[in-house]
Amino acid sequence: MKSLSALCSAVLLSLSLAASADPIIIKFSHVVAPDTPKGRAAEKFKQLAEEKTHGRVKVEVYPNSQLYKDREELEALQLGSVQMLAPSLSKFGPMGAREFEVFDLPYIFPNSTVLHRVMDGVVGNKLFAKLDSKGVTGLAFWDNGFKQMSSNRPMHTMADFKGLKMRIQSSKVLDAEMKAFGAVPQVMAFSEVYSALQQGVVDGTENPVSNFYTQKMNEVQKNMTISNHGYLGYAVVTNKQFWDGLPADIRSELTAAMKEATEFERDIAQKDNDDALEKVRAAKTTEIYVLPDSEREAWRKALLPVHAQFADVIGKDLIQDVYDVAAQVEKEQQHPAGKNKKKK
Ligand code: LMR
Repeated sequence: MKSLSALCSAVLLSLSLAASADPIIIKFSHVVAPDTPKGRAAEKFKQLAEEKTHGRVKVEVYPNSQLYKDREELEALQLGSVQMLAPSLSKFGPMGAREFEVFDLPYIFPNSTVLHRVMDGVVGNKLFAKLDSKGVTGLAFWDNGFKQMSSNRPMHTMADFKGLKMRIQSSKVLDAEMKAFGAVPQVMAFSEVYSALQQGVVDGTENPVSNFYTQKMNEVQKNMTISNHGYLGYAVVTNKQFWDGLPADIRSELTAAMKEATEFERDIAQKDNDDALEKVRAAKTTEIYVLPDSEREAWRKALLPVHAQFADVIGKDLIQDVYDVAAQVEKEQQHPAGKNKKKK
């Protein structure tokens, strides 16, 4: 009898050891193709996270809206059905974080130095703090790039957009931006854009070229204007309860993996977009027009009032923070450190 109970205890012990040896699963869902800056960085994070935790964490990456579409994915994260996402910054509005739309303001980032300093500084911190009460923890900001316009009509001046039905992400700022063009904005999940363009449900869209090419939108869009009028980037987010509940050593390895994956992502994003543009050119499906500086200035002037229009929604202070960073960077670029130092 005694030996039977000893046997039972041994079996129970080995079962519980087996259970504790089960890896922690992170489902990382996203909506773009694997061969994009976000898709490749998600795979990089998987590789680093699994290596650094010696297999105690297993990351399952689900690209191309396989698991969830745009809006559903944030709800799924809050419910804990998925542990990690990297939605575009334009998609946090519907969950009550419209402040993220500061990144959508047209022409707010003169260059990527300003952009990254904004992400990695006060503004980024304030935005992540907003997510806390929603059960979401922000881990990193990832790049895609500046957006270009596409449709089946040449778009040289703002007047060329009049009446075009343009697909946008779920951002009020983007809605106002398209209206300032005289276009008719239509919110739509990313996974539906190709067929909506093909069937003429919408006439055009805006996206960085890496997304445009990997979704084969060039097959259904005859014209593209290189305008760089706005930015599209990502916040990598996790479920707060899941994250806080991780063993501290695992959390710190995952933090290190995310840091490395973020450096990788920001390094490849621009080149991925440049390569995608070359592929669109080579495909000869889409005529590419590069907006000249004179016209770009006309677009910028016409779109700038959108900043003031959203001062209350986004917060004047947050917008001012971005302007301050831009002014500081400009000053540094005009007077690089050491330039005025006297020679000894
Ligand atoms: C879009 O919906 O156009 C983008 O946000 C897709 C993405 O995640 O890059």
